[in-house]
Amino acid sequence: MTSAWTNEAAIQQWDTTSTRESMEATAERGDFAKQHLVNPVLLRLLGDVRGRTVLDAGCGNGYFSRILAARGAEVTGVEPAGSLISFAREKSAEDISYLQADLAQLPELEPFDAVVCSMVLMAIPDWKPAMRACVEAVRPGGLFVFAIVHPAFEELFGTWREHGEYRRKEYLAEYEIASGHAADFHRPISAYLNEVAALGCRVREVVEPGLDPEVAKASGIESYVRMPNFLIVAAETGCPSGL
Ligand SMILES: C[S@@+](CC[C@H](N)C(=O)[O-])C[C@H]1O[C@@H](n2cnc3c(N)ncnc32)[C@H](O)[C@@H]1O
Repeated sequence: MTSAWTNEAAIQQWDTTSTRESMEATAERGDFAKQHLVNPVLLRLLGDVRGRTVLDAGCGNGYFSRILAARGAEVTGVEPAGSLISFAREKSAEDISYLQADLAQLPELEPFDAVVCSMVLMAIPDWKPAMRACVEAVRPGGLFVFAIVHPAFEELFGTWREHGEYRRKEYLAEYEIASGHAADFHRPISAYLNEVAALGCRVREVVEPGLDPEVAKASGIESYVRMPNFLIVAAETGCPSGL
């Protein structure tokens, strides 16, 4: 766990910094990066969700829960920050269930066909119990899909803008990174992949999405074409060896 931080303190930051304006701006499809890099990969990895139960773990303003529900999934969203879950509830039809909880203290729920945890684990100081709860919420043989800011290319956009290339001084240690709303926490890629294996999952696919050059031309974001800002992992649960 990243010293000096508790989950409660991090959640509090999310709660107070999530303004109505910021939540509205991303209420339909998420921000630019989610629209072009994260959502298409998550949806492909999850496959046909019609009639399937899906837990959106750390659902924020609920935009992805609503996308999944529109595709026919039976969705439950979990979110601990009061401002975000109130917004998610307000924007969603009654067919989505929401639960306010820290993933590290998730109550027992009926097992889901899939759990998606998008851009959440790197925001949690005590993240291992949260990942465990996600895996335990999936039925055996179901899917656990998580997306994080790529631990090798955090702060890609700002660093590239400043230096015309990506620079990084430290990788192996665990440390805090200032982010728009609340702190993120850097851990090496191995920390996440070894934990998912230790929880008895078999990794099906790892994706490091790059931005379409045409989209990059229009948006002026060259760095995202050349380097991946996100790491997305699809894992199957209930594989005792983890291999
Ligand atoms: C970058 S946002 C991503 C939200 C959403 N999944 C999305 O893609 O828009 C990080 C989210 O993690 C949530 N979060 C922080 N700590 C958490 C915890 N301990 N358990 C569950 N969610 C947490 C925050 O409240 C916030 O909604």
